[in-house]
Amino acid sequence: MKITTNINSLLRRTNSELAFQRCINPFCGTTCAVTEVRTACPKCGDLLDVDYDWSLVDIPSSLAEFEKHWQQRFSPVRFSGVWRFHELLPFAPIDRLITAGEGQTLLQQADAVGRFVGMQPGKLYLQYEGMNPSGSFKDNGMVAAFTHARMIGASRAACASTGNTSASLAMYCSVTQLMRAIIFIGSGKISYGKLSQALEYGALTVQIAGDFDDAMQRVQEVAKDLGIYLVNSINPFRLEGQKTVMFRVLEALRWEVPDWIVVPGGNLGNSSAFGKAFYELYKLGLIERIPRLAVINAAGADTLYQLFEKRGLRWNYGKPAMEIACHYYDELDRDHRKADTIASAIEINRPVNLKKCLRALEFCDGVVRRVSDQEILDAKAQVGAGGIGCEPASAASVAGARLLRQEGVIASGDRVVCILTGHQLKDPTATVAYHTADQDKFNEVLGSRGVSRAAFANRAVAVPNELDAIIKAIQLYS
Ligand code: F0G
Repeated sequence: MKITTNINSLLRRTNSELAFQRCINPFCGTTCAVTEVRTACPKCGDLLDVDYDWSLVDIPSSLAEFEKHWQQRFSPVRFSGVWRFHELLPFAPIDRLITAGEGQTLLQQADAVGRFVGMQPGKLYLQYEGMNPSGSFKDNGMVAAFTHARMIGASRAACASTGNTSASLAMYCSVTQLMRAIIFIGSGKISYGKLSQALEYGALTVQIAGDFDDAMQRVQEVAKDLGIYLVNSINPFRLEGQKTVMFRVLEALRWEVPDWIVVPGGNLGNSSAFGKAFYELYKLGLIERIPRLAVINAAGADTLYQLFEKRGLRWNYGKPAMEIACHYYDELDRDHRKADTIASAIEINRPVNLKKCLRALEFCDGVVRRVSDQEILDAKAQVGAGGIGCEPASAASVAGARLLRQEGVIASGDRVVCILTGHQLKDPTATVAYHTADQDKFNEVLGSRGVSRAAFANRAVAVPNELDAIIKAIQLYS
């Protein structure tokens, strides 16, 4: 059946017929309606997935069929890089979808960065999610959660954030004027670029004395008490939208599956969503093989690395030994260890999507690595020198790919896609400190993080305000 027929039939149906929520624990499997607002299974408390009765969705016979939607770019819904894949996340009828032009992003072949990583020419790609309207990948998921929130009639939405989720929520609230944004941030942990967005877009901004992990816990309590819709990635509808990052990667590769997807890991929403995307595409017969997944932690916030690589925690067909994680969290509390990294977006020690990420790692034969702040900033400088800037957390993917290349886990001829999750201007403080010639500034911002050198710094040249001196400096350095 053709996609156009498909949309019409979706329009006629109520979404509840084909979409529902399901507990991720295969030994529980409790389901609830798509219209219910939940962040946990009502029976066992585990995370929830959005799931579909695919037999009621007229799925295209091949991914290439989605190219037909390119001709409908005049329609805001088909212009959206999320909703042009609506058939693969059909939880809301097409006439209820909200959009702010998200997902117009780019998969860039990046040979210079590829050389730095150790790849053969033509093998490294950067998926640049900084091009989203609020400047990060969050818009992919936020538009889906926002659509769900409006579908069930919510008037207020809340999140805890290291900055990008809050910027995205605030942006959708102000663009649509449909909901009030309430955001929780930790004290002193949010970059100015992100904070400025939330304030300017008019979000109610609650700064609590604590870090992101504290804010995450509080926002869940408050959302429950006050009946406010929660849009953190614990919300399964967020992850539906984030699946489309992978659909666009495949689209840009003319529907060929790469060998590796490398992604920074914080709250583990992206990695979980990517795993779900590939699982569903494979189950639906739309791809024939699964890429491998590499999730990269910052060394100062490396819970997933510690649990997966060091303590052997696995999804284990739906029976992860969660006492390993509990024990680890007890150790963090006992030693008063807080997450600490220059990559503030992923400064998270208690990732809410841990189990879903373990499932994704199992399905995608994944690996986890950790990279230091020094490695992150060097990789970031290389990405920036290649013309596409990114924020520190995003560069963890490139630093991680380099590490995996050095280890020989990634081969130089593999086709590798690194996800650049956020725009360069999100966090200028770290960038300027890295490139500055001012040693005090460097030490103040970076020294305390163990960053001792700026191998790829592009220093500003200081000259007196005299024509001769300026000309001399330009001739010397250009
Ligand atoms: N990169 C950036 C730029 C981010 O903002 C985040 C998360 C991540 C990576 C990690 O992604 O959670 O899916 O593993 N930022 C959240 C926020 C926590 O509040 O903006 P994840």
